[in-house]
Amino acid sequence: MTDSIAFIREKVQGATPSIGLILGSGFNEFPDSNFEETLTVPYRDIPGFPQSTVPSHKGNLVLGRMGDNPVICMQGRLHKYEGYSMKEVISTVRVMAELGIKILIVTNASGAINTNFDAGDLMLITDHVNFMGDNPLIGPVEEGCLRYPDMTQAYDQELISKAEVAAESKGIKIRKGVYVANPGPSFETPAEIRAYASMGIDAVGMSTVPEVILARSYGIRVLGISLISNKAARLCGQLLTAEEVNETAAAAQGKITGLLTELLKSL
Ligand code: HPA
Repeated sequence: MTDSIAFIREKVQGATPSIGLILGSGFNEFPDSNFEETLTVPYRDIPGFPQSTVPSHKGNLVLGRMGDNPVICMQGRLHKYEGYSMKEVISTVRVMAELGIKILIVTNASGAINTNFDAGDLMLITDHVNFMGDNPLIGPVEEGCLRYPDMTQAYDQELISKAEVAAESKGIKIRKGVYVANPGPSFETPAEIRAYASMGIDAVGMSTVPEVILARSYGIRVLGISLISNKAARLCGQLLTAEEVNETAAAAQGKITGLLTELLKSL
């Protein structure tokens, strides 16, 4: 990790990134055309950086600027279901934290449990439930991290409000809700979806929670944005496939770009 940090520091040439952006399923196309002064480095070229194995995740680190903000962007994330340990999943966020980011924007695709939500909606995450059966902070306390971070305000209210304003100014309908992280890679059973619904959960996915826990242990403010790519298991009336997630994501690119561009300008 020290190697990764030194390598990236040299690439940014003293411009400390203030915002970290993790582009999950559905969001990977974002930075190609939207950042200024972009430098794209494949994860494989960064010493000590883990590789993304999910085909729709590009596996690039994008260093760029949006308005006044230097941004460090992961085009593709790591998941526990790829076989990575929790420590490996969050290692890239640790790099961002050590580089000095103050805000982390995490994005993902999820299945809707809330029956009012439709495929293609964007949801701001207001809270989460960790069903991964693991926690990235287990083990020795790392320097700069809290042992017992408070999770009452895991998702920053001011950032949620800014995202709502950004969405409204672009005419994008926005949802808000609670996200549950399942380890995956199997989708959920109908019984699991019934259980989650009874717990007041709105959407389900296979990521994000580890990164948010680590960010909060560093005191980094977090915003979570989820693309509702499908209705969850028992609610969709058909079998779920990863292709469906990708197709909805492709159709939602305009909204995603509109929201992220407007939001990043306002931070
Ligand atoms: N379940 C879990 N993860 C997901 C889903 C889903 O329905 N859709 C996209 N990611």
